Amino acid sequence: MSTYQEERVPFPSPWRLVKELRLRRPPWWMVALLILVVIGTWIPLALIYQARQQTSRLPRIHFFHDMDHQPKFGPQSGHPWYVDGRAMRQPIEGTIARGKLEHDQEYLLGYVTQDGTRSSPPIRFVTALPERLPQDNALLSRGRERFGIYCAPCHGSQGAGDGQVNQAAIALEEGKWVPATNLLSQMVRDRADGQLFQAISDGVRSMPSYGSQISVRDRWAIVAFVRDLQQTLPTAADSEPTAQTNAASPSQQSTSNP
Ligand code: HEC
Repeated sequence: MSTYQEERVPFPSPWRLVKELRLRRPPWWMVALLILVVIGTWIPLALIYQARQQTSRLPRIHFFHDMDHQPKFGPQSGHPWYVDGRAMRQPIEGTIARGKLEHDQEYLLGYVTQDGTRSSPPIRFVTALPERLPQDNALLSRGRERFGIYCAPCHGSQGAGDGQVNQAAIALEEGKWVPATNLLSQMVRDRADGQLFQAISDGVRSMPSYGSQISVRDRWAIVAFVRDLQQTLPTAADSEPTAQTNAASPSQQSTSNP
């Protein structure tokens, strides 16, 4: 009994096949043409290789121009058309750059700048919420919500300086941690509304700024909510650690130059 393995014969070579099946050999020119075509396929590869290795003083070949080339004046360029030789025209007097319109300093900054003389400081904080804001419950609840998102992690939901981040940092004994100020302390009560607004906008000492994350209106809403907290909750005692931290840097406390 023979197995399949034993019956297997080696595959015949192509030349033997040609002979046994009596196929015609391809004519020499066909073989030559095939070889030429195969070698011809190497030409693009060679050209690509050359293009990658060599440098050229000519600009590169640009098949699709799209809008790459169009008549225009580049920035800071000149042109003889204009008397002053500048291609860029001067903006009309009084032009304000986009996003730079600061017509209402009190509302947008929380303070007004004044001529910095010896008698008057360079800025004066506003002492009340801007009149253009409707001082109603909607503003307060918006302030409560935003305070919960942006301030409570450090200052605590009631502003007592006992936020979770603060507690965790103290538990971890973070050496450089400055405790968040107790917003119920007399010091913060004495701050002008505009100064609280400015503290949110620009940050204060080790507290980061939130101006880029909280809109102007929401910042005022937070100030309104903090004031509401201060009215309903008792003043925090001076002995609290947060109060001590602030007492340690009295010279920096008066943020006169934002
Ligand atoms: C990342 C933690 C953190 C967050 C979030 C935070 N604060 Fe503070 N805040 C601090 C710290 C820390 C201080 C004390 C800074 C110091 O004394 O160096 C401080 C100080 C303050 C003060 C006292 C400023 C002064 O005049 O001395 C006010 C007011 C205040 N924060 C309000 C807010 C409000 C409102 C928010 C929410 C928009 C907020 N903070 C969010 C950490 C935070």
